[in-house]
Amino acid sequence: MSHTLIITGASAGIGKALAWEFAKRGCRLGLTGRRLEALETLQVELQQQTGSEVHIARLDVDDTDSVELSLLDLFAALGEVDSVIINAGINNFTRVGHGQLADETAIIRTNLLGAMATANAAVAYFLKRGHGQIVGISSLASLQAIPSQAAYCASKAGISMYLDALRIEHKDKHIDVTQIRPGFIKTEIMENIDRYPFAISAEKAASEMAKAILARRKDVFVPRFPWTLFRPLLGHLPDRIWQRFKS
Ligand SMILES: NC(=O)c1ccc[n+]([C@@H]2O[C@H](COP(=O)([O-])OP(=O)(O)OC[C@H]3O[C@@H](n4cnc5c(N)ncnc54)[C@H](OP(=O)(O)O)[C@@H]3O)[C@@H](O)[C@H]2O)c1
Repeated sequence: MSHTLIITGASAGIGKALAWEFAKRGCRLGLTGRRLEALETLQVELQQQTGSEVHIARLDVDDTDSVELSLLDLFAALGEVDSVIINAGINNFTRVGHGQLADETAIIRTNLLGAMATANAAVAYFLKRGHGQIVGISSLASLQAIPSQAAYCASKAGISMYLDALRIEHKDKHIDVTQIRPGFIKTEIMENIDRYPFAISAEKAASEMAKAILARRKDVFVPRFPWTLFRPLLGHLPDRIWQRFKS
């Protein structure tokens, strides 16, 4: 039987590119996001161009109480689900001390609490099923502080630690955890994302991510090079290197 995956935040950017990548590989898909129309269009295109089976569901991960119910519908529609990709996320330039606590709270709500709600629902399903894979799209920002993105960095450091802890907690329950830390990927998440170093397209990122996910790798950077080589330096580089990215 082919691999079956659910992707949150599949209506755009990395999630959408992952949907194309896995559909081309013959996988069965459950796609979620808030914009149902975008998902409907994507569903039709994927089915017509790849022949893959694609189910969609509207899911706002900020509404943490509704996450499990929406995912249960998709689990039922797909029958068996092998992997849940926790991808839905937001970013915004936020400056500490500039009256932006509401913006910062929104980032934590989606990227950390929404991701935790998704992980809880997926792990509960995999515990019943006996096995499965959680994939978390974290960020380079989980390891490297970036100015004007303090809340984003905190949300990604938080979800990375959460994923590491759940991996150890469920090691004996046949639940694998793959953590992906993208560098800078050219999507709509932020203006001028390509001013950051080593930015790549969502399609190239999705291709690297799909290989790591199917190989059930534990923790990878995308693009793999140069960030894998730089890993020991992240968080230890002189502040002035990152200060120029202050917004
Ligand atoms: N682009 C980068 O450079 C980069 C780097 C590191 C990590 N990442 C991470 O990669 C993930 C995807 O980012 P992206 O660059 O692809 O961004 P994007 O192009 O803006 O897409 C974000 C996706 O998340 C969904 N989303 C946002 N808020 C949501 C909510 N409350 N509930 C459900 N879905 C929601 C959006 O769908 P709807 O609007 O339809 O809900 C959209 O499909 C994020 O977790 C991001 O932090 C990105």
